[in-house]
This record gives sequence, C-alpha cells and structure tokens, in this order.
Amino acid sequence: MVNIRKVTDDTWWVGASDRRIGLFENIYPVPDGMAYNSYLIMDEKTCLMDGVDASVTGQYLENVAHVLAGKSLDYLVVQHMEPDHCAVIPVLLARYPGLKIVASAKAIAMIGQFYGIDVSGSAIAVKEVDTLELGRHTLNFITAPMVHWPEVIMSYDPATGALFSADAFGSFGALSGNIFADEVNWGRDILDEARRYYVNIVGKYGAQVAAVLKKASALEIKMLLPLHGHIWRENLETIINRYETWAGYIPEEDSAAIFYGSIYGNTANAAEILAVRLAEKGVKNIAVYDTSKTDTSEMLAAAFKYKVLVFASATYNGEIFDPVNHLLTDIKNHNLSGRTVGIIDNGTWAATAGKRIIEAVGAMKNMTVLEPVVSIKSAVDTDTHLKLIELADAIKNCLS
Ligand code: FEO
Repeated sequence: MVNIRKVTDDTWWVGASDRRIGLFENIYPVPDGMAYNSYLIMDEKTCLMDGVDASVTGQYLENVAHVLAGKSLDYLVVQHMEPDHCAVIPVLLARYPGLKIVASAKAIAMIGQFYGIDVSGSAIAVKEVDTLELGRHTLNFITAPMVHWPEVIMSYDPATGALFSADAFGSFGALSGNIFADEVNWGRDILDEARRYYVNIVGKYGAQVAAVLKKASALEIKMLLPLHGHIWRENLETIINRYETWAGYIPEEDSAAIFYGSIYGNTANAAEILAVRLAEKGVKNIAVYDTSKTDTSEMLAAAFKYKVLVFASATYNGEIFDPVNHLLTDIKNHNLSGRTVGIIDNGTWAATAGKRIIEAVGAMKNMTVLEPVVSIKSAVDTDTHLKLIELADAIKNCLS
C-alpha cells in the first residue's frame, strides 16, 4: 500500500525509509535506518524531484503511481547523481515514456557513466538562473557544487518558498511517519544524527556549503525539502544556524573531547585521569572516547562539536596506535580547522606517538597544540600525573 504525505496543496512526499540498512554508503552505521526523500509536484506538468535508493524501489514506484493516478510523468529533476537518489532512473525512464530528465550537464554525463544510458538527446541541461515552468510553479535552479558532489543543483519555487535542497539539511535515520521537523523533538532526538550526517557527508566542503547558504539567504525560503531526514516548514533558522556553524568549523561545545587509543588500559587511564582533573576544575560536558570501540563517524562529529580535542595514544610499531591514526586522518580529510589540541602519548621503551600526532595535527589548518605534551612510560606515575594536571590547567585556561 502507498506510504505518502502531502507537503503542500499539490506537492507530495513520495519517499521511503530503509530500516534494514546497516551501513550508509557502506561505511557509516545507521542504527535508526535511512530515509530517502523524493517529492512529486502535481501541476499542469508533473514533476518528480529526485529519486531514491535501490533498496526502497518497490515502495517508491507504488507511491509515485498512486499520486500520478494515471497522469503521465513529465519531468524528473535530478539534483544529485549519487545512487542513493538516482538508482531508479532506468526504471522510471522505462515506466514513463516521454519522461524528460532535468539536471546539470555534469549530472547528465553521470547518468551515462552509471547506467550506460545516453539521455543527452532528451535531457534538459540546466544551470544557475535557468527555470522550469510547471504551471503554477516555476523551479529556479541554483548550482551547489560539492554539496555533496560537483554536479549538484538545488531548486527554489517562489510560489511556495520551497527550497529543494538535495543532500543539504538532511540527516541519518529513517522517518517514522512524522516527516516534518516540527512534528518531532528535533533538538533532543535528531540533532546529533544531523550533525554526524553533515560532518561525515559534506563536512569537508565547508566553504562550498557557506557559498550556498549565502545564495540561499537572498531567497524568501519558507520550506526546506532535503533528500534525507525531516522537512523544515517552521523555525528554519534552527537548522540554517547549525549549518552556518558547521560550515564555518565553529565549535559548539566549550569543553574537551578526549580520544584515546589504549592497548592494555594504561593510556586509557591517563585519559580518564585528565577528564577527572578537568571536571574538578569546573569543566562540564567532557566527552571521552575509546577509539578502538566508537565508530569514527561519531568521533568525527564530536571533533567538529568540541573546542578542545585531546589525543591520547599508545605507541604501536613506532607509530600512532591505528584507531587514533585513523581518526586523525579522517579529521584532516574533512578539513576541520581552528581547534586547540592536547596530546598524551605512551611508550614502554620509545614513545614516538606524540611526535607523530604533532605532525598529523600540523598538517591541519589553524590548530594550536597545548603544552605540555604528556609522555607516559608504560603507566601513569607521580611525575606524569603532575603533567596531566598541568595539561588540565592549560585546557581550562583556553575555555570560556
Ligand atoms: Fe544522499 Fe550525496 O547522496
């Protein structure tokens, strides 16, 4: 049976959720599943805004057919050519003869690359300021390169103030009937997953996200319709303000996140001692992560959230312990900048992890390494405990 919701008088949400999925993009754990949004505008011309992932094709095709109720499908606007949205292009073209694809020239080329279909003769290539007349609605196209791929466009409808925003403003997690952000406790239940989604999917492209936010600020937006997560029709500033913060790599939490990699528990102990000393100095909301246990996507989100990041690592094969090294690489690959960093290393005969962490942090932009760098020999002793207290003082001093 169909599973659709009305968004405006003549626009329908026809997406679907996948709760069986374990890893989104085969890398990010999604314990709450994943939603793939698509919207069908029933105007003089019918227009589908993006498709969905292959996993929910059956539900999706039923939804689309139900809303069309026998009418033909005139346009498919492909805002983003990643397969979690466009896997259904071949089947839609087969089902709806005469369907015109509207997309950027880059996206049209990608259709051929992915599916071996040459649509160049029938597709309509659009760029910034181009429009598509549907009747009462006119879609205005906005290029949004690297949010999240280079071919991305967004579509603005002045008639309703709707911005179809592609991957932007989305979240991990399935939708549970309540497709609107004002129907859930977004700040309590969704924000953390929206941050983890943003950071991991488009966190690298803060400058490009900021450029699109600037373009969007000139529009009278009344509704944000992303391809994942909830639709925004109230209090849009809630999500837009978060995006401005995240795109600017601005920390949200005036506190420290401590990431440790420990083989037998001694480096973990140093990290826990630092956390306790910080708490005694009045620092609140401290976060401690065992990098061997917590998924990197969650720790990357924490790195974006916190003002001070502490890396504590055992020395392993003369290098940084692998899970900490992986996290550092991921942080660098996502262009995080402007954080204050504390370092603890451990080595029974030659502690070299600290030196390597300093090199890794040095490859990032605008990072400040605190003194002292604490170096432990096997286990925390009286001297290294004093150094941990010194490091706690240094962290406390750079918090408000
Ligand atoms: Fe949801 Fe970049 O695809």
